[in-house]
Amino acid sequence: FHVTWDAESAEKEGYQHFMIKEINEQPKGVSETLMRRLDKEDNIVLDGIKLTKEDLEHINKIYIVACGTAYHAGLVGRYAIEKLARIPVEVDVASEFRYRDPFVDENTLFIAVSQSGETLDTLAALREAKRKGARILSIVNVVGSSVARESHDVFYTWAGPEIAVASTKAYTTQLIAMYLIALHMAKTADSISNEEYKKVIQELKTLPEKVKGILGDIDKIQHLGDAQFSNESVFFMGRGLDVNVAHEGSLKLKEISYINSFAIAAGELKHGTIALIEKGTLVMALATQDHLYDKMLSNIQEVRARGAYVVAVAKEGNKEVEKTADVVLYIPNTMDELTPVLSIIPLQLFAYFIAVARGCDVDKPKNLAKSVTVE
Ligand code: AGP
Repeated sequence: FHVTWDAESAEKEGYQHFMIKEINEQPKGVSETLMRRLDKEDNIVLDGIKLTKEDLEHINKIYIVACGTAYHAGLVGRYAIEKLARIPVEVDVASEFRYRDPFVDENTLFIAVSQSGETLDTLAALREAKRKGARILSIVNVVGSSVARESHDVFYTWAGPEIAVASTKAYTTQLIAMYLIALHMAKTADSISNEEYKKVIQELKTLPEKVKGILGDIDKIQHLGDAQFSNESVFFMGRGLDVNVAHEGSLKLKEISYINSFAIAAGELKHGTIALIEKGTLVMALATQDHLYDKMLSNIQEVRARGAYVVAVAKEGNKEVEKTADVVLYIPNTMDELTPVLSIIPLQLFAYFIAVARGCDVDKPKNLAKSVTVE
């Protein structure tokens, strides 16, 4: 047999694409990003972040600013920081932030999120916030990149080099970074009890194995991708934290399969979007948030009554959803706040298998660059 041997195939380590390789590197990336920051007593040690208690006492506003997938990670980060550190957070795309003369002063913490650390919009937004006196903390995957160099504090994600244009392992490691920063702030500001802190840390430590569990059982998702590849539009919907994961799942599908898709807060269906639902419309419904589960079940019924084909993502054990959705992709149980690290995995795989079935150039989608260093 003929063995093709080139640098790229060697780097793919036997995977067909960099993207599926990087999807499968997420248990390691999540574990590395987490465990390198915990000492043997599970205290968080963030060597690149020098935010002190008095620094935090002066912070009355936090912005999380980024683009694309990094922005979607910021949307999840807002929940974590507001819930744990009790400081108001605003999330914005960098291309908007930099032109809207935002309220920024020396009591502002500006968190930049960027895999490459070279995205021009994010860098320009960072410079604008810095010029106005903000403290700059960045979450970056590339050591020594421009965003990192121009920040006061840096949190490096340990995802390893991400080659595929569609970001996957950078996203899940950015989420871990957000949780650790939120916990660190909460601990520093004494706004979290010791038992609550330990509970979150213990649950974070179970995530790498849970991610691995999802990656070990992908037949159902692969068949779904193969069966659904001819769709020309796909809806993603959720409530609470799930809306933010819906946005990331929709971006994955759009950018590698070129299928028109969008994400909505499920509560918004009746305010217009439901008019688009017809027989056979594919709807991806995220229903992982316990306190919103029943609401999501009725939203799923709403779209099914109009002929939608519904693929739900739900926590193991929540069998109720099988009565309403056509297909259910289960994720292992975890705290509601941490589910995005798990619920994004089936959506990454779904986008990947559909793009492969459509014969798309998965690693290098048309018109896209890995790092957008232009306006
Ligand atoms: C995501 O899959 C895309 N590659 C793109 O949206 C990317 O997230 C965005 O350009 C931001 O890149 P950065 O994280 O390197 O700043």
